[in-house]
Amino acid sequence: MSSGQVRPRPAWPARALARGESLLSNAFGAATNPFHHLGALAIYCFYIALVTGIYLFVFYSTNLEGAWHSVEAITHEQWVIGGLIRSLHRYSSDAAVLLLALHMLRELVRMRHTGVRWFSWLTGMPLIWIVLIFGISGYWMVWDQLAAWVATASAQLLDWLPIFSDPMGSNFVSNETVSGRLFTLIGFIHLVGLPIVLVLGIWFHLLRVRYPRIHPPSKLMLGSLASLMVLSLIIPVTSHAPADLDAVPGVLAIDWFYLAVFPLQSVTSPGTIWLAGTTGTLLLAALPWILPRRRQPVAEVHLPDCTGCGFCAEDCPYGAIDMVPRTDGRNFELEAKVNASLCVSCGICTGSCPSSSPFRQRAPLTTGIELPHFTMDDFRTELDRARDTGQTGERILVFGCDHGVDVEKTETGTAHSMVLPCVGLLPPAGIDYALRNSGYAGVAIAGCADCDCHHRLGERWTQERIDRERPPGLRKRVPRERLFTYWGKPGQEKALSRRLAGFAAGLDQAATPEAPGSALRRTGT
Ligand code: HEM
Ligand code: SF4
Ligand code: SF4
Repeated sequence: MSSGQVRPRPAWPARALARGESLLSNAFGAATNPFHHLGALAIYCFYIALVTGIYLFVFYSTNLEGAWHSVEAITHEQWVIGGLIRSLHRYSSDAAVLLLALHMLRELVRMRHTGVRWFSWLTGMPLIWIVLIFGISGYWMVWDQLAAWVATASAQLLDWLPIFSDPMGSNFVSNETVSGRLFTLIGFIHLVGLPIVLVLGIWFHLLRVRYPRIHPPSKLMLGSLASLMVLSLIIPVTSHAPADLDAVPGVLAIDWFYLAVFPLQSVTSPGTIWLAGTTGTLLLAALPWILPRRRQPVAEVHLPDCTGCGFCAEDCPYGAIDMVPRTDGRNFELEAKVNASLCVSCGICTGSCPSSSPFRQRAPLTTGIELPHFTMDDFRTELDRARDTGQTGERILVFGCDHGVDVEKTETGTAHSMVLPCVGLLPPAGIDYALRNSGYAGVAIAGCADCDCHHRLGERWTQERIDRERPPGLRKRVPRERLFTYWGKPGQEKALSRRLAGFAAGLDQAATPEAPGSALRRTGT
């Protein structure tokens, strides 16, 4: 049983990624799978870099003469602490670049850059540049041979642009020409300017993401910090010899996360680097429009069923619903209004609306807010049709979504499936109806893995509604033994089938739908 719509199932790269990530979920647990928290982990790494950076700054000498010596003193004379903090500063910054690259690739592979999400994608682009410039400017601060090489190469890069009347490169011809003021300026940019720009950039990036997950789970934070500390102790970061522009630098150990551009520049030219950088950025920025996804119709409000409660506006993951003054003269203060340019057609708002109850004696069944291609009336018609053709009885109904486990592959003689755009569309009254009125022996909900909902909040809101922590809550009369939830990824169909078989087998002993419930089974990865 399905909605009859063309379903936007994940393409093979997304399925392959999901399979790989499932292995990590098995090892870490889905809620602490690092791939489910890449953006938040990047922010966490910036925090570590910030805190360790403040410590380094306290002991750092911001002038050209004292910089190298002060870094050496921090590294070698402060027992283990100074060296450890310096290494943590470096490795957390490197980790941030890695996480940023993975975050971007993951969003791309899962096609979460297209449609309404173009905003997050586009505002991510400048962040790449900001982070890279941040790191490169950090390398100046040590003022060792590597710093001198980075300074010279970055000056050549900037001189290629027609922005400076005096070439910057002339600063780095010899030790005598190095400008202390320029050095102090770079220090100011690294210590004050770029942190502010980065914070503003991240804030802008998340402007359209409601309830963004900016803190990874505490276990993941501790694990990441511990890993960075172990790395810092095993391979402590050290400086090269002091900068000497009059001498040919020795062999330089390059940080490929930030400095890869410079070896490339030495075998090509600054012009080639600018060309590659701007072309790459423009191409990436254009991806939402180069690989567009067919847009589904957006949610529509049906005023006769809207009481202006605001639950839908509260739950919408993209802030696409505004509560505005009433326009139809009914005795309510507000009404819901959908901003079509922000709506991703997930249907989560339908699941929040108290009017979304198939028990209502109304034909056709309407509700306060719903997707035109997946209405509450379609939903009830499907359930009634299954009942009227005698397809329920001892069977279970499995609700799935377009992006998680493919529940249609788990259909058996005892399990029917219904695919929703997101499980968050399912109103709790729909579960009650399937058990009481349609006569299913049990209901299973199989949505995206913990902290990995394609629509960000569908899995979380569904669980909270079932647990009666979020309105509208699942009625107490629904026997929880007849309800089963599974949060997983595409590719986990066999695991789900096994769990469903176990659930179906246990239903004989379960309470009847009329009886009050007990504990809910919750599984998945
Ligand atoms: C400093 C770098 C970045 C940080 C700290 C960061 C952080 C985040 C966070 C915390 C979220 C919200 C995740 C959630 O709650 O579901 C997010 C969403 C997103 N990020 Fe980034 N991000 C960064 C760079 C980028 C870049 C470079 C891109 C791609 C060009 C990108 C693309 C996206 C997209 C498309 C979303 C929206 C996902 C959705 O709508 O569900 N981000 N980012
Ligand atoms: S369909 Fe989704 S994005 Fe659109 S208004 Fe409803 S909850 Fe918001
Ligand atoms: S949840 Fe339903 S009743 Fe409440 S504001 Fe939204 S559309 Fe109106």
